[in-house]
Amino acid sequence: MDSHKKLLLANKAWAEEKLKIRPDFFSRNVETQQPEFMWIGCSDSRVPAEEVTGTEPGELFVHRNVANLVVHTDLNLLSVLQYAVQVLKVKHIIVCGHYNCGGVKNALTNTDLGLLNKWLRHIKDVYRLNRQEVESIADPALRLDRMVEINVAEQVHNLAQTSIVQKAWVTENRPVLHGWVYDIRTGLLKEVALMTPDTKLDDIYQFSFDLNGNH
Ligand code: CO
Repeated sequence: MDSHKKLLLANKAWAEEKLKIRPDFFSRNVETQQPEFMWIGCSDSRVPAEEVTGTEPGELFVHRNVANLVVHTDLNLLSVLQYAVQVLKVKHIIVCGHYNCGGVKNALTNTDLGLLNKWLRHIKDVYRLNRQEVESIADPALRLDRMVEINVAEQVHNLAQTSIVQKAWVTENRPVLHGWVYDIRTGLLKEVALMTPDTKLDDIYQFSFDLNGNH
């Protein structure tokens, strides 16, 4: 059988199974969604957001890209973020990296990957900013683990530096930003960063809002 047909068959079985357990499993979510969480994860096939968090359709608003980056000029991510914060009014945003991330691993080398160089450059910038700590770790595997953690923390900061998040912090005291790392060796999540709405940001990045104005 063509391997893709297996997916379609599995889908039928999955839908039937869900309906057996809960007849309104699909119908309850048809009109609206009210997810409490936005998830920014890596595209890696080993880190399925819903599966590792035990969540069901309707619970996670998901954006995934190579190495779970929050790039402030990425219209795709920013559109998902704006919708999540301003329309869905999510309470939590989770940036989830994972150990043995190919994106982070490659960014630590000098390999030319063509177009990907431009995306991974953001991780090289994180490396440069934390060079002393990263290079103080002699073991290459441990060094990569730490870079994965630092990268996640940096992406959480990048989220906090957006006007979308800052405005919601000031006006609605949400969302809480979380940085997690998934361990593909154990299946467990580790918390590595947390920013609550009362976090004082570096004033270089803090916007002052005219809440009665037009912008
Ligand atoms: Co990855």
